[in-house]
Amino acid sequence: MESKILFSAIQPSGILTLGNYIGAISNWIKLLDTEYNCIFSIADLHTLTVKQDPVQFKQNVFDLAATYLACDLNPDKCIFFLQSSVHQHTELTWILNTITYPGELQRMTQFKDKSKSHSDNINMGLMDYPVLMASDILLYNTNLVPVGADQKQHLELARNLAERFNNRYTDTFIIPEPYISENGAKIMSLQNPDKKMSKSDANLNSFISLNDDENTIIKKFKKAVTDSENEVRYDAINKAGISNLLTIYSVMTGKTIKESENEFSGHGYGVFKTSVAEAVAEVLIPLQKRKTQFLSDKGYIENVLKNGAEKALDKAEKKIKQVYNTIGILYQK
Ligand code: TYM
Repeated sequence: MESKILFSAIQPSGILTLGNYIGAISNWIKLLDTEYNCIFSIADLHTLTVKQDPVQFKQNVFDLAATYLACDLNPDKCIFFLQSSVHQHTELTWILNTITYPGELQRMTQFKDKSKSHSDNINMGLMDYPVLMASDILLYNTNLVPVGADQKQHLELARNLAERFNNRYTDTFIIPEPYISENGAKIMSLQNPDKKMSKSDANLNSFISLNDDENTIIKKFKKAVTDSENEVRYDAINKAGISNLLTIYSVMTGKTIKESENEFSGHGYGVFKTSVAEAVAEVLIPLQKRKTQFLSDKGYIENVLKNGAEKALDKAEKKIKQVYNTIGILYQK
């Protein structure tokens, strides 16, 4: 029986937040030793949809690769590679573009949001972004895509495009399933618990960066917006701030929400916030140390990416050949 494929990616657009870690990476780590063959990409072409400084951009790629390594995404256990190193991603994007309607892309929440926040640079790439993402996924016969809730709409499009292509031609693409964890799919801003935690937030206290030191982590959690009660109880509607902190605590410690509520019953918010901060620091500080070690050997990182790209290229070439043959393109390589 063919093994199942898991694919996911993160953009190298700056230091990741705790939201990226909880919504994506913590699930990747969990799924690494299951029946899935895991492929993780660094989606650098996606990042170009927003203006980048070339020097910083390259540094961000190394940083993300080192983060993957520090999170124990061992290259012996999974493939990880740089999206731009595998040219079939952009080739398939063109093919899928020919079956995508502009209206589908203009409707995307992220396109609308980014068009507002980057109104000086509303480019075609920004709009086409979900088609490139669909190509990333469909190129590898992916069965499962672990992502945070904000990527759900993009995944729906990938599924629709796969079905549309299969109906127009012949069964070519597997319809991928999302894996969106119930606990932690949308980590909220510490300053405004109605808004997603995001590294592009102007208020630095609103997010935990994976590079924050222990004191900063503690300071930011102490300042986290909660409510006027003093009961640590999960209620996402009426107690969004506390519920967000409970989610963070539960994912970082591996305890359930119920266990976490019980642990802090009768304690005030101050004690709870400190414990959340400590639980986060306990994971992030060793991770930062490992990341620094990996970053001190860029040659090793480049090697890992090169080996990963070779493996990915092999798979991607088989798929694009199948796609070209299906649609009647004369494949001559
Ligand atoms: P990106 O780089 O914006 O985010 C990477 C992952 O982090 C998740 N995430 C969150 N999860 C919970 N709470 C949050 N506050 C939070 N913020 C971010 C995202 O849902 C995502 O899983 N387009 C994608 C990258 C991509 C991709 C793909 C993903 C490119 N190709 C193919 C899956 C499959 C993106 O920009 O993610």
